[in-house]
Amino acid sequence: MTCLFTVVLVGLPGSGKSSVGRAVARRMDCVWKDSDHEIEAQLGCTVREYFEAEGEGAFRDREEEVLDSLSRTAGIVLSTGGGAVLREVNRQRLKERGTVIYLRSSPEALCRRLKNDTKRPLLQVADPLKRLRALYAERDPLYRECAHFVIDTHGSSLSMLVNRIMMQL
Ligand code: S3P
Repeated sequence: MTCLFTVVLVGLPGSGKSSVGRAVARRMDCVWKDSDHEIEAQLGCTVREYFEAEGEGAFRDREEEVLDSLSRTAGIVLSTGGGAVLREVNRQRLKERGTVIYLRSSPEALCRRLKNDTKRPLLQVADPLKRLRALYAERDPLYRECAHFVIDTHGSSLSMLVNRIMMQL
């Protein structure tokens, strides 16, 4: 199956957007893009370094530009950063230009997966589970608004998730 349209993955940090996106792209024989990788390549530093030096607002501006540019390319699989849905303009563009899949995971499962994570600036706090619960409460409705399909990741291996996504496309 060749990819004729854009597939966009959204969800909280640790939900598998990158690993699932890469695997779906491989299965569909199309190009995989990751908005955070693109931002890091443009900036020449990590997302965490940029967040800490310039603040979240500057990161969100850069993220909006990169999402706008990447989502104009038809026929790719695009893994987004967890905060991509925070801006209405991003939600609208992604939904119009692609088939958007929300990889839903519980804050508890995400916290287990992200134990020892040092890459994500928003999770470098004393109580990451509390932070993930707050992010979930804020963003779950936004992911749902943006998505065409919701895939619950609980209990599914990577290949099961890829199969379930392929069935929806
Ligand atoms: C963020 C998630 C990160 C990255 C940045 C902000 C967020 O991406 O874009 O640290 O606001 O949830 P991942 O979802 O790939 O961790």
